[in-house]
Amino acid sequence: MKHVPGVALFVAGLIHLLPVAGVLGTQPLMRLYGMEVSEPDTAILLQHRALLFGVLGAMMLRAIASPPLRFAAFAAGLISSAGFVAVALLKGGYNDAIARVVAADVMATALLGAGLAVEIALVARRGRPAEPSPELGLIAAGTALSVVLAATILAIAGDGREGTQLALRMTARLSFFWFFLTFIASPLNRLYPSAGSAWLLRNRRALGVTFGLGMLVHVYCILRLFVLYSPQRPPMVTDADFLIGVPGLLLVAALTVTSLGALRRRMQPAHWRRLHTTGAWFVWAVFILCLVDSAGRKQTDHPVLAYYLFIVLLLAGAGLRVAAARRASTLF
Ligand code: HEM
Repeated sequence: MKHVPGVALFVAGLIHLLPVAGVLGTQPLMRLYGMEVSEPDTAILLQHRALLFGVLGAMMLRAIASPPLRFAAFAAGLISSAGFVAVALLKGGYNDAIARVVAADVMATALLGAGLAVEIALVARRGRPAEPSPELGLIAAGTALSVVLAATILAIAGDGREGTQLALRMTARLSFFWFFLTFIASPLNRLYPSAGSAWLLRNRRALGVTFGLGMLVHVYCILRLFVLYSPQRPPMVTDADFLIGVPGLLLVAALTVTSLGALRRRMQPAHWRRLHTTGAWFVWAVFILCLVDSAGRKQTDHPVLAYYLFIVLLLAGAGLRVAAARRASTLF
């Protein structure tokens, strides 16, 4: 029950952030609203609308970590979503693309209404807003970044085969970033303690959950490719993807759910540690195999930025972990 307001703000925030790619140009807006934007005046108004949505979406995500902000965020979100539905219904005669936006706003209105009702009940019971939760804020912002990156690529490059493959590759790289920070947090803090490494260690769980949720975008893009190439298997999905990628994804799911408080408390600490150490190294291996295989097979103008940089980071991360483990074994 206590997570309902946060989940409502997260989903409604995402709905508001999806059109933000429109700030970059009219192409995504034409796709989103199913209309020609040939006049500069219309383009200015629509691009500014996309910017305002970005502000609203960011406010809703921020409010997840800052309960005192929640009432303002719920109010702004409700006025925006319900207001759009009301204007569209009063005006009528809209196209199919606008009908989809109306449906998304009806959903956002219902979610925000339910979230606000629960928030009011919780505050009345507690007598004050909940404590701020920076971990939740980090997870919400990081996950939203993966979703918005994928939506932006699909809006700009098109939601066909090529656009989806590009979104798949780019979001895999963003997920890499979350995984890498989780992977190095503890050894980095042990070997080189600093304010930055202490922050990483404190937020390791949130970074890990963000990685797990970000991989859902990878799964979404893979499933989308299967639909787009149906009834054939997408040519870029290799046997290795099934042999090591699928077990890798199952492990990521296990690591993510066992990071959540309730399940973690139920597990014996030694079992939990074994699962998380083995899982982290397995996912490390999936990343390095994917990237080494791609570097050897695929043509790109930027092999260093596309592959070698990530491979070097993975090797450096492994080196840090081994050095920290050796340091610990010499201490005890
Ligand atoms: C933990 C699990 C996984 C990890 C860490 C992972 C990681 C990655 C990475 C880093 C890339 C970018 C490679 C590049 O740009 O060439 C990638 C791309 C890709 N992955 Fe995964 N992946 C995982 C699971 C899977 C699974 C289960 C499948 C499908 C069954 C899959 C299918 C693909 C495909 C089709 C691409 C795009 C390849 C291309 O564009 O040629 N992945 N993955």
